[in-house]
Amino acid sequence: MLSREDVDFFCRVGKGTPTGEVYRRYWTPALLSEDLPGPGCPPVEFRILGEDLVAFRDSSGKVGVLDRYCSHRGASLGIAAIEDCGLRCIYHGWVFDTDGRIVETPNMPATSKFKDINRQLSYPAREGGGFVWVYMGPPEDEPPFPHYYWFDIPADSLAARESQMAVNYLQIQEGSIDSSHVGVLHHDMHAKAPEPDEAVAGTPGLVRYSCWYSEVSRDGGPKDNVPSTDFAPVFDVENTDFGFHYAATRKSIYGEDRRYVRVTAFVFPYIGYIPPSATPVITVPIDDYHTASFSAWDKRLYADGGGRMFGPMPPRAQRMWAIPPQDRQAMEEGRSFSGWYGIGLQDAAVHRSMGRMYDRHNEHLVSPADSAVVRFRHILRDEARRLAAGERVKFAFSTHPTERITAASGIVPEGEHWNALVPTNLSTGVGINQTESQMGA
Ligand code: FES
Ligand SMILES: [Fe+2]
Repeated sequence: MLSREDVDFFCRVGKGTPTGEVYRRYWTPALLSEDLPGPGCPPVEFRILGEDLVAFRDSSGKVGVLDRYCSHRGASLGIAAIEDCGLRCIYHGWVFDTDGRIVETPNMPATSKFKDINRQLSYPAREGGGFVWVYMGPPEDEPPFPHYYWFDIPADSLAARESQMAVNYLQIQEGSIDSSHVGVLHHDMHAKAPEPDEAVAGTPGLVRYSCWYSEVSRDGGPKDNVPSTDFAPVFDVENTDFGFHYAATRKSIYGEDRRYVRVTAFVFPYIGYIPPSATPVITVPIDDYHTASFSAWDKRLYADGGGRMFGPMPPRAQRMWAIPPQDRQAMEEGRSFSGWYGIGLQDAAVHRSMGRMYDRHNEHLVSPADSAVVRFRHILRDEARRLAAGERVKFAFSTHPTERITAASGIVPEGEHWNALVPTNLSTGVGINQTESQMGA
């Protein structure tokens, strides 16, 4: 249960708020690269961390991110004309380049020095892994630009996606690192009992596993072999140089001496790596009441090349989740547990059901199921304390090889440590003892 002050601390992300200032010290995914398809394309208005911005490409293809409102008298640069070197405001014709320099002020005398001593607010922008990333903190604290594994997927095999939802970011962030809901929300209680997979049953030692805990197809039958029917996983959280990773360990259908383990990694402050495919799920606050969810997929992992799964992205204005009505009839008839089909929609429906900004004053975190949620909040608090003490944030300057961070699921024999599934995460130890830690961060 959080105090009212703590609710504000964790949920508010605008400029000057403790959490907003922590987030501004990290490279932040803001747009899909395909939203700016090439030099001369229209500028894109967007909002991130409560700030209204505009992105565009100059004639060299370089991305610029500027304050959305012209520093003359506030016309949106989202409706600006494209010039070779930048954007020309259509109100009085001022021109800005990708670094916010004022190149022309045609409504001022030619002798004016105004443009030489003033600038439009701009933020550094980089591209990687299908996204445009922005750094919105003080220039002297700009961290190295990270390189994650999916940056190396060839462009024609990479599916970078975005969806948006009109809820506070914490509802989505804490859902993406919460393994204990997987066996409930995403499990159809009425599916038939799983049969052990012969290949897995016959393989001694640690086996990487390639299915959701219990993904169920629309016709009610298991889509893949289900390795566990245990709804109460045990959690181990370990610190890493990029944040933390944790194991959710369940009894397996392969006998008492073999456990089913799902390891989720969290790269503070935005990226959850979700097993079994280590898909990055990236949660970025648009403002206090809206959130963008980005993800990146390797289409080569799909038999059809990802054609059915990843159609063209809709325009940005059409990426807000539309939640269909809950199928109560299917629930009554035993065809569906949740009344929604598909993991993404099930998550989205629950996140939205919490309201625009859930009042966490009324929550009750429990041990060990909410261990990852608690660890996330501890890290966020620690980072805010560092900033308040005049220090830099910690994880933006991690020396961990970011391209090696991963997640995995597998069958692990008793006596074998789960972090053997993800050796490149380079665990740095248990850290906070979750059973002694005061839940609620
Ligand atoms: S408002 Fe942009 S040039 Fe005047
Ligand atoms: Fe989920």
